[in-house]
Amino acid sequence: MKKIEDQVLIIFGASGDLTIRKLIPAVFNLFCRDYLPENYKIIGVSRTAYSDEDYRKKAVYDNPHLKDDISAEKRTAFADLIHYQSIDTSDTSTYGALKDRLANMSGPTKSKQNCIFYLSTPPSLYATIAKSLAHIGLSHEDDGWKRLIIEKPFGYDLQSALALNRELLGCFKEDQIYRIDHYLGKETVQNLLVTRFANSIFEPLWNRNYIHRVEITSAESVGVEKRGGYYDGAGALRDMVQNHLLQLVSLVAMEPPARMDANAIRNEKVKLFQALRPIPLDKIKKHVIRGQYLESHIRNQHMPGYREEEGVNPDSRTETFVALKFFVDNWRWADVPFYIRSGKRLPTRVSEVVIHFKPNHHHLFKKSRVTNSQNMLVFRIQPNEGVLLKFGLKVPGTGFDVETVNMDFHYDDLTDAYVPDAYERLILDCMQGDATLYARGDSVEAAWQFIDPILKAWEEDHSIPIFGYPAGTWGPENSDDLIEGKNMIWRYPCKNLTDDGNYCEL
Ligand code: BG6
Repeated sequence: MKKIEDQVLIIFGASGDLTIRKLIPAVFNLFCRDYLPENYKIIGVSRTAYSDEDYRKKAVYDNPHLKDDISAEKRTAFADLIHYQSIDTSDTSTYGALKDRLANMSGPTKSKQNCIFYLSTPPSLYATIAKSLAHIGLSHEDDGWKRLIIEKPFGYDLQSALALNRELLGCFKEDQIYRIDHYLGKETVQNLLVTRFANSIFEPLWNRNYIHRVEITSAESVGVEKRGGYYDGAGALRDMVQNHLLQLVSLVAMEPPARMDANAIRNEKVKLFQALRPIPLDKIKKHVIRGQYLESHIRNQHMPGYREEEGVNPDSRTETFVALKFFVDNWRWADVPFYIRSGKRLPTRVSEVVIHFKPNHHHLFKKSRVTNSQNMLVFRIQPNEGVLLKFGLKVPGTGFDVETVNMDFHYDDLTDAYVPDAYERLILDCMQGDATLYARGDSVEAAWQFIDPILKAWEEDHSIPIFGYPAGTWGPENSDDLIEGKNMIWRYPCKNLTDDGNYCEL
């Protein structure tokens, strides 16, 4: 690992939910694992007035998301790294106070001002914050590097993403901008690259000659919880597909990079996004199924419908489920369908990538009982993280009956391996200047290019239906029809990697 230089982490949106739930706990874990440099400081920034002590109480002493098996002395030592500065982030004239605070700080800013600015604010503030930082000279790197981490959503559609990129690039250089997608920080997501490119047995099969279809599911059992206000203006396509799911598609489908570095990998990813075949307008109704969860009762538990949730318009047409079929126009993937789906209030919380291999061309055992002749490789992203290969095995006894069996690996089995949280890994990478697991501007734009026509069609063509599905089910029934072919259905994953079946675990 590179030596980590002294630095300051400045978190905008310091009193917000993401900061308290994810960012501070991630940095705390880095602190406990001795990854922070000798001189390290955190400055929380937001409008609310806190003293340093008040903010330390909120972020550390009263924070239920910090791991609790750490001594009180260590907690105090971590809390002492944290400071707080109240400014009105929407008003450039108030930023001078932040600059003074940085300049007067002992430690990391004395000789060199290496700074990470983490924008954990509403997206409407991203450009204003970047411009205000540039205005007070905090984008210049003469006296230390300056990096900007931007949370999702990056834009609301293609046009706003282009505009945001333009505005950011007006004040920071591309290599200073780190667009975060927390899925890329997940250990199991990174393992997609390793499984593909560190093994010689998979890559020769990784193409249209052997793969029948690729399926990606990201299901959540929760509803919109307290985020109805935000979600109702976004929907599943913007919230999950444009970023997290397309990132998974890129890792599954990209060409091998020449080197393991940020540019080489991100060049391949952008090529892949550019090869996504836009879904033609007249196919959107058939190839993109959207749904919205309805009230239901499961095992005597009442689940409210989406339109009854706090902050949601009672006539809302925002999708809480989306399933898509599309193609990648290149040599490797020509004519291989990709199916992806994501939804809230589904029967369980699970994310996985399934590679379905083509069946044998010559059915040698056709006179015997064959339960399933197609091989399947499953990457379980969460929970019960692991990898599963399904293949046919002879049933012991006379004859040649074939049964599908599982060969599985579970991350849990590596009892001594520490699996860092996604934010922990990503913040550490940014501290070292490694942008490999962050999205580059051109690839975010290319991903929007694919999504934008769908959003436009939904907006303009009111004959495209939005289907209701009872909370706790796998979305609209007709999302099954997306998968064409005899006996071809989605895999219905369960909490346990090796189980599947169309039932509800709620
Ligand atoms: C976020 C979305 O980016 O990802 C949320 O805004 C979603 O709506 C979350 O719940 C899912 O993340 P994870 O890591 O729980 O799969």
